[in-house]
Amino acid sequence: MWKSRFHVAPPYGLLNDPNGLIYWKGEYHLFYQWNPNACEHGAKHWAHLRSKDLINWETLPVALSPTDSFDKNGCYSGSAIEKDGEIHLFYTGNVKNNGVRESYQCLATSKDGVNFEKKGPVIHDNDIPKEYTRHFRDPKVFMENETYKMVIGAQRVDLTGTVVAFSSKDLINWTFDKEVINEDFGFMCECPDFITDKKNSALLFSPQGIEADGDLYNNRYQSGYIIRELEEINKNNFIELDRGFEFYAPQTFIDEFHKNVLIGWMGMPEELDHPTIEKENWVHSLTLPRTLEITKNKILQTPHPNLKKLRKEKIQLEGIKIKNSLNLSEFGICGDTYELIIDLKNLDTDFKIDLRVGETEKTTFSYNYEKKKATLDRNHSGAGYTGTRSCSLKELEKIHIFMDKSSVEIFLNDGEEVFTANIYPNKSSLGIEIMTKMLFTIPMIKFFRI
Ligand code: FRU
Repeated sequence: MWKSRFHVAPPYGLLNDPNGLIYWKGEYHLFYQWNPNACEHGAKHWAHLRSKDLINWETLPVALSPTDSFDKNGCYSGSAIEKDGEIHLFYTGNVKNNGVRESYQCLATSKDGVNFEKKGPVIHDNDIPKEYTRHFRDPKVFMENETYKMVIGAQRVDLTGTVVAFSSKDLINWTFDKEVINEDFGFMCECPDFITDKKNSALLFSPQGIEADGDLYNNRYQSGYIIRELEEINKNNFIELDRGFEFYAPQTFIDEFHKNVLIGWMGMPEELDHPTIEKENWVHSLTLPRTLEITKNKILQTPHPNLKKLRKEKIQLEGIKIKNSLNLSEFGICGDTYELIIDLKNLDTDFKIDLRVGETEKTTFSYNYEKKKATLDRNHSGAGYTGTRSCSLKELEKIHIFMDKSSVEIFLNDGEEVFTANIYPNKSSLGIEIMTKMLFTIPMIKFFRI
């Protein structure tokens, strides 16, 4: 009953990071870290899906399995790039011998986009500069000024986290460039990524071991970015990508519209108390694709335009006067799989929306107008993890919600902030209720059943 309807999820077993995202020969290829053997972290494979539109996915044979000496304990995360008409996958071969870790950055290529041939390591375990431990992984390859660059998540020998860069002219021979982050970011940085658009650029990564600071960094591990050129990374400029709960190890790619698009793992390392494990033998899914726009000081994230293809029945309300509460079920607006857009232009009072409302359950998103704070509360959502997450927000002008069977993604103000969370309500908790503190007229509500 919790299996995602329109999010990528594993048929069984555990899914974690999205890998190798690429738009190649008119089709999207998406891979994910998959343990088909159990709902726990173990020997990772690269599961493989293909799509013409990022919405309808076809399952292809597993692309990489941990069957070789250089990846025997897991084909860990990595990326894809096209060269000479072939997909080149770069991934980390995780090896453990008697508890001693080795890390190999490996290459696999494909001519047909279905069958992948492992070419072995391009950066060997003993090529890792002596300044770093074997927590050295997750190669993301991109092109910059006619040179291939690879950013890798790393841990220094003093057990602090950083990101390093290598370069190559041919994707085979790689030389170490430098540390991209000069400061300490916790004890490890995973899954780095680097994106540019016309004017701006940003380094994305997932640091581990950053301490909570008020509303910030409350999840076990973080995922965020620093705007600016690779040279000028500064710790104070780290911004979290998502303000909710389950969001980690995102990866970007360039889509058919030449835009940067991001997909994240809707999960968190070391957090496996999800009821789908016992009840349905699968755990975790990916986020929806988000189109990115890099501005001078922030990345804006909006739902990918192709998601409109999911829309079925539409209900639209205009100029709805509300004081205290309004039960949207009265208008047929309710359910467990939908897209809901609420225009809140000129909101001048507290606002609250309860989702997946049942007799004893609800998931609440609220905006405190005085405190300028947005909050997601899943203390009464149903089974699974509880808690609240908040972020400051000068104004709330629009909320854009995607509700799936066991997750919710809430986009605010055309991409200013996003809250992502897993929730596990009862089948019968389908209600939607809106509340305002003072009289307010909602300009527009659009609801699409999915
Ligand atoms: C992030 C991560 C990566 C690693 C992969 C293993 O969630 O720990 O650093 O490559 O998962 O599955």
